[in-house]
Amino acid sequence: MTDPIATLTKLLEPIFSEMNGGDPADPVVRPSDRADAQINGALALAKKVGANPRDLAESVTESAALTDVASSLEVAGPGFINVEFSQPFLESLLAEVANDDRLGVAAATDLKTVVIDYSAPNVAKEMHVGHLRSTVIGDSLVRMMECLGHQVIRENHIGDWGRPFGMLIEHLLDLGEDVASSGLSQGDLDSFYKEANAKFAESETFQERARQRVVLLQGGDEETLVLWRRLVDMSNAYFNSVYSTLGVLLTDDDLAGESRYQPLMEGVYQRLDDAGLLSEDDGAMVVYPDGFKNRDGDPLPMIAKSRTGAFMYATSDLACVVDRVERLGADLMLYVVGSPQANHLEMVFSVCAKAGWLVEPTEAVHVGFGNVLGADGKMMRSRAGDSVKLADLLDEAIERAEAAIAEKNPELAADQRAKVAEMVGIGALKYFDLSTDRIKDYQFDWDRMLAFEGSTGPYLQYAHARICSVFRRADIERASVRQVPIALIEPQERALALRLLAYPTAITASLGTYAPHKLCTYVYELASDFSSFYQECPILKSKEPVRSSRLALADLTARVLAHSLGLLGIAAPEEM
Ligand code: ARG
Repeated sequence: MTDPIATLTKLLEPIFSEMNGGDPADPVVRPSDRADAQINGALALAKKVGANPRDLAESVTESAALTDVASSLEVAGPGFINVEFSQPFLESLLAEVANDDRLGVAAATDLKTVVIDYSAPNVAKEMHVGHLRSTVIGDSLVRMMECLGHQVIRENHIGDWGRPFGMLIEHLLDLGEDVASSGLSQGDLDSFYKEANAKFAESETFQERARQRVVLLQGGDEETLVLWRRLVDMSNAYFNSVYSTLGVLLTDDDLAGESRYQPLMEGVYQRLDDAGLLSEDDGAMVVYPDGFKNRDGDPLPMIAKSRTGAFMYATSDLACVVDRVERLGADLMLYVVGSPQANHLEMVFSVCAKAGWLVEPTEAVHVGFGNVLGADGKMMRSRAGDSVKLADLLDEAIERAEAAIAEKNPELAADQRAKVAEMVGIGALKYFDLSTDRIKDYQFDWDRMLAFEGSTGPYLQYAHARICSVFRRADIERASVRQVPIALIEPQERALALRLLAYPTAITASLGTYAPHKLCTYVYELASDFSSFYQECPILKSKEPVRSSRLALADLTARVLAHSLGLLGIAAPEEM
């Protein structure tokens, strides 16, 4: 444990428990603006045991157990204790972190099997910015969860089944596979879908063909399945090219589309029936989850089987929960899906709970997110008024980054510049998405995203590259300073050290609400603390042993920057 606040808490626990007659009592230690930390637990405890909070606080400050850890303990206000950590204590923690490949981040104590449902684009439809959000947020949660030692199963719940496939397959036949595949694999998915749709609207014969094709597809007709597979494969090839540019972890092994759950739905439906949960509503078979009401205040049904006897999107999500819990042994399921599907998912979870498939401590959480808005504050659209194609956005990000880097560092060789541009462009896009509270909408803004100042991807990457360049200039191997003891002399060194030691807590806080923006804030604060240190404390120009100590502090900062950016799925170039 290298977080000084956590260490202090551990030391305080027996003291607080003694004051509470032997029962545990939380010392409530928090970071503070006034001191390194503040102990706030005396207030609540005083109320509980009927004592004066300042008296309790005074007795805490007199405890011998804290002498090694705190250089000053001061009672303030109604009974807070302001703590200043002792220099040797912080220095010893830093030495421990510098020696640790995990930089102080310990594995979680409650290891879980976690299924993370993210990205989930639809076959033969364009990926848009909503899928960007799901993909980027989901991927960062995967990385954080894995870092804490959880067993993470990624599932890409692509939309690869349903009625539209009748018309899509017929359109594929009309075009011929070669023509269709050149359009689809180059990412011209929207025109394919629109053409099919237009034909469907115009021609009754085409409608009839599409209808028959759906029947064949659902009946498992071999030839139809081959055509369906072609469509799915072509779209997947395209999705994979986007994933590779984005640098996310998803591969074909993670595909778990709606089609996978088709064979399971009959059984799940039967179990709903056996549990007596089905009722008839206007010819459809429905379940009423507890507590869901429509606008008139009547119970809201979740449709399990339509009037025509078809299973629904909701039914496939029920089967999906059952599969995740019973086959995969999930303890936790995260659904990284846009906020408009909140009601759908809540109903699914609620029906699963009612049926006994989702019982505590197993948990399903909707990790929702807001919209991406254009400059006009409305949903982001292309100039033609369509939703913006994700692949175009990625290309533009890289192009713009390349121009920005050429301006900032004209000396960088062209091939190097191209590589860095990819890291910076994609990093900027991802950071911009991750750094606002996911629940909120955000306004897309190239200039803000690619700025080298403020809380942006490029600023953080630049902080990392700058440290690397200090070592390059002095021709010093970074690993060579890792055993050097770090001495904290100037206040900027101390502030930076405290920030570095808070890294593990930043990860757990971020995962506590599945909110990557909290980790973003941490990385930004770390880069800012480094920047103050770099301004006030000369590194290479200092005399030994200060020079080596500062190099060691800079190296540790670069390691935490690269590691934390890595958890956000953002690359850390050594030069830019
Ligand atoms: N394919 C859906 C869409 O694009 C998202 C699927 C989300 N996951 C789920 N299990 N329902 O809206």
